[in-house]
Amino acid sequence: MIKSTVELALNEQINAEFHSAYLYLSMSAHFQSSGLIGYANWMRIQFQEELAHAARIFDYVNERGGRVRLSPIQEVQVEFLDIVDVFEKTLAHEQMVTGRINKLMDISIEENDHATKSFLQWFVDEQVEEEGNVEQILNNLRLIKGEGQGLLMMDREMQQRVFINPFISKG
Ligand code: FEO
Repeated sequence: MIKSTVELALNEQINAEFHSAYLYLSMSAHFQSSGLIGYANWMRIQFQEELAHAARIFDYVNERGGRVRLSPIQEVQVEFLDIVDVFEKTLAHEQMVTGRINKLMDISIEENDHATKSFLQWFVDEQVEEEGNVEQILNNLRLIKGEGQGLLMMDREMQQRVFINPFISKG
């Protein structure tokens, strides 16, 4: 049986993942309205990834005999200054999520919950990748100053991204 401190922290993380999903869907809508279809696609996939994270934690709480309690999702930003602003906010958001995952890991260690530690390791590794991807996009955007032909070329590249659910095995 899962300890109540860990159960509460995981429930909070389910909410945080839904909040991330909601934020990225809002960013996708922003790009749609700006005619940047590739970026809209990238954010839409980001949204799907966050939903998959939330669902995975949801399942884990149930697997451990815990109780999932869903709570209201915090409001997200709707308007953005420009494309660099969107990705700066994305990076700051992912850094915040990394902090949350680390805190969750700390709680699991304090509670001697080895199963949750093992479960969370995937999320620790995922955050390294998430931050790295966003940093790379941000660097590229800064190089092209977030405009012109370079932006259109990047937009075409962003359109190639597809969603792969990391929790569904290929075998
Ligand atoms: Fe669920 Fe973007 O981390």
